[in-house]
Amino acid sequence: MGALQVRLFLTYLIIIGVTLGLAALSLFLLLGGYRDDISYSSLEDIGVLIDAQANTQVQEAGTAPGTPGAFPEGAELLLALRSILERGGSDSDLARQTSIAIVDAGGRVIPGGWASAVNLEGASAAGLVPETGELPAGRSPLRCRLATPTGPDLLCVSMPLSDAVKAAFPNSGASALVVAQPAASLREVLGDLMPRMLFSGLIGVAAALVLGFLLSQSVAAPLRNIARAARSVARGNYRQRVPATGPREVRDLAANFNRMTEEVQRSQQTLRDFLANISHELKTPLTSIRGFSEAVLDGTIDDEPGIHRSAKIISDESSRLLRLVQELLDLSRIESGQVSMRQDAILLDELFAHVSEVFALRSDESDVRLELAAPPGARIRGDFDRLEQVLNNLLDNAFRHTPRGGTVRVASRELTPGTLQISVADTGAGIPGPDLPHLFERFYRAATSGNGKGHGLGLAISREIVRAHGGDIWATSEEGRGTTFVFTLPSAGRKERSAAAR
Ligand SMILES: Nc1ncnc2c1ncn2[C@@H]1O[C@H](COP(=O)(O)OP(=O)(O)O)[C@@H](O)[C@H]1O
Ligand SMILES: [Mg+2]
Repeated sequence: MGALQVRLFLTYLIIIGVTLGLAALSLFLLLGGYRDDISYSSLEDIGVLIDAQANTQVQEAGTAPGTPGAFPEGAELLLALRSILERGGSDSDLARQTSIAIVDAGGRVIPGGWASAVNLEGASAAGLVPETGELPAGRSPLRCRLATPTGPDLLCVSMPLSDAVKAAFPNSGASALVVAQPAASLREVLGDLMPRMLFSGLIGVAAALVLGFLLSQSVAAPLRNIARAARSVARGNYRQRVPATGPREVRDLAANFNRMTEEVQRSQQTLRDFLANISHELKTPLTSIRGFSEAVLDGTIDDEPGIHRSAKIISDESSRLLRLVQELLDLSRIESGQVSMRQDAILLDELFAHVSEVFALRSDESDVRLELAAPPGARIRGDFDRLEQVLNNLLDNAFRHTPRGGTVRVASRELTPGTLQISVADTGAGIPGPDLPHLFERFYRAATSGNGKGHGLGLAISREIVRAHGGDIWATSEEGRGTTFVFTLPSAGRKERSAAAR
């Protein structure tokens, strides 16, 4: 078990322990009252029984039981009642624990009027005797608590004596019979219940141990899995995935971990592809540079035109290399956000005019018409040079892929308020559907592109530039009919309007 699981486990145990303790405590308190209730009702039964039997005896005998005159009347009465208790109670234990006393109308125990193990001399309790002297109907006993001068409190019930009994002992001053038992102390209740409580507590703790272990395991085990997987990823095993189990938060963690690992794996793969692509792109020009320079050096090529041709090839190839390196640097600088795009308001007309100048000669040479149409006064917000770079890339591609007699059309329209879209459409060979989603990846060249001069970085750079402007770029194509590249840019409003506002 790891530290987390131990903690969870202990937490469960502590919670269960505290709960069990509280439950036990409240149970004790409740049961204490319950026991008092039981004691009271058994005392009431005894009280009613004794009085009823005394009543019967007195009426049958027509006179007082016992030996008249031998004792004071109070003691006589008590003796009589006591013997009834001892006779009637088959439960001698109960009889031994039960004290009876006779009290006068003021609620004082009559001297000599008590019989029990507990000294009741001087014991008193308020309200032992109803003020009217006798309870009305039903003769139900009163519950009371008897404070004794020496011992603990007693639970008691007070039973007004029947008139016949009182009449039989007229000089005793007796008014009521009190039946009492020591109240069960908390310690007794505890002692009584402790073994049972302990037993059920043990069952509870055992259940808690098992449940606590399972619960803490259900949280800790998936976390351990994730930790193990993370270590494995750190060592370079990017194929590592963890199953999403356990509580929701832990499942979330696992899912996110998997996503992260996938991402790391993907970017590792991209990096590897990237290096492979660069090596490949470098290899071809470098090979011919070395081939021609060695041929010149070792005299394989020694004629003037041959040397000149070799120098030309070497120069071309190194230009190509330089361009590649330049493009790569550019791409990585834009990607990493090192290039800050200006936020100028650019007249679309101006941008188009500039591009048109650049491509005029090429249009003539390749016999491909170039049409540019911008909505009058439309302005975009951005970096003139960078946006020109995008258009140059797109137009270069378009001219490269459009046969003689074709047309390259650059147009613009408002897509939504605040967004302009610019499209570059050609009437070239088109791009096969499967290639379309990959066009903007670095080094991607469509199968149809042949052995062009490009490195497949132009569109990747264009996309980075457009995105840095907050726009997007995409391509649609119909094979055999042509390709259209579209990108969006934030507009900067029309010129007339802003001029009028000023
Ligand atoms: N207008 C177009 N018509 C047909 N294919 C195109 C067009 N524009 C781009 N492509 C394809 O997309 C690939 C990627 O373009 P780009 O990133 O500019 O790379 P490069 O021009 O250096 O080859 C090209 O190699 C070509 O196959
Ligand atoms: Mg290109």
